[in-house]
Amino acid sequence: MQGSRKYANCNVSGACIADFGHHVICVDKDNIKISALNAGEIPIYEPGLDEIVQSNVRQGRLSFTTELSETLDEAAAVFIAVGTPSRRGDGHADLSYVYAATREIALALKRFTVVITKSTVPVGTGDEIERIIRELRPDIDVAVVSNPEFLREGAAIHDFKHPDRIVVGTHDERARALLAEIYRPLYLNRAPIVYTGRRTAELIKYAANAFLATKITFINEIADLCERVGADVQEVACGIGLDNRIGPKFLHAGPGFGGSCFPKDVRALIKTARDHDVPMRILEAVETVNDTRKRAMARKVSSVFAGLLRGKTVAVLGLTFKPNTDDVREAPSLALITALQDMGARVRAYDPVGMEQAKQVLADVTYCRDPYDCVEEADAVVIVTEWEQFRALDLERVRDLMACPVMVDLRNVYRPEDMKKYGFAYTSIGRLPTHEPVKLVDAPFSIAAAV
Ligand code: UDX
Repeated sequence: MQGSRKYANCNVSGACIADFGHHVICVDKDNIKISALNAGEIPIYEPGLDEIVQSNVRQGRLSFTTELSETLDEAAAVFIAVGTPSRRGDGHADLSYVYAATREIALALKRFTVVITKSTVPVGTGDEIERIIRELRPDIDVAVVSNPEFLREGAAIHDFKHPDRIVVGTHDERARALLAEIYRPLYLNRAPIVYTGRRTAELIKYAANAFLATKITFINEIADLCERVGADVQEVACGIGLDNRIGPKFLHAGPGFGGSCFPKDVRALIKTARDHDVPMRILEAVETVNDTRKRAMARKVSSVFAGLLRGKTVAVLGLTFKPNTDDVREAPSLALITALQDMGARVRAYDPVGMEQAKQVLADVTYCRDPYDCVEEADAVVIVTEWEQFRALDLERVRDLMACPVMVDLRNVYRPEDMKKYGFAYTSIGRLPTHEPVKLVDAPFSIAAAV
């Protein structure tokens, strides 16, 4: 295929780059994963990924191997896309996989190659990658580029193909030209490419995630205030989001952010900043507020029963940190369920996709067949993840199945007035509950009269 080259990579980006017409070889050390991929099985849950992988494998543009050295015979570029989890104990990004991959790549290099970091890595990691390669292979020229990805789980393919921007961090002209070629289909679709320095690109990724995490935490705290003063957080979000300087996205109040990126990246940026003697107080607050919030959601449930949850059965709908993924990492459901159990409640749970993952980390939970099985004889139901199927529950059926019609909706998928009609005691986020007399807290204020 004209303009196609070989690229070594192993993730959603790899499949999407193959879909652009390039040749991609995905490399992973995990034999089981690679055998599964070669047998047509996708090891992660990502809507649309299986089709894109199958069609590109069929057309001979995408393949999988555990042998890195073979792939570098023809590759013009190598993407490092390994995980950078939080390091145990101190919250710094664990770069051991990145550096292990770098050493392997260095030893396998055949000629000038562009080495591109897609993994989220702290500022300065690209410098270290370059140093390692030059030390191990002084005979080979390389360009090391930072090219962070901004893909959301569950929407990764859409995000890859419709990016708000592509960030390319390098001053090497050869590398810039190659990245422009790789992303040409997106560029033709007018996705802006931000060419910048490597360190700046590395920081852009963290700053983006940290800013979005801050925005969510901000609206979550506004939601708490709304509950106390009798305001509606969704209308506040709409009212401020219409200001173009603020924007409407990432203003959905909820039980706190989770997932594999925001919590870990906020932590890592705080650590990097501290190392450089630049404390990030806003982010420190974001981290603490968000951690505390997830567990505090259990109090929303217990307050309906005047704090007495012992012996009650709580049905939890949604275990993943958000819909369209099987990922339960740092999901609000985990802290919430543990807190409910600590208060003496029995927990039944249902999630369309995430139950297998949840079983590995949650004990003493009764996993159910579907939402209706889950709510049977429950004293309260809590919506934790806004899966599409929880937005369209047969509410009469839910109410009749429950021992007590109490719903705590942590994603505001229902409207309080509708829930009242169905006879639920309904509590949500940043809106007044339907079941309690309104207790408005009036702050003291003064009026300045303008004459
Ligand atoms: C995020 C970034 O969006 C993505 O650009 C980056 O590449 C990886 O991290 P992801 O973690 O997949 O993606 O999910 P996202 O949709 O951003 O949601 C993260 C968390 O924030 C979820 O727990 C979600 O429920 C929560 N959230 C999001 C809110 O509580 N309110 C919102 O308005 C938006």
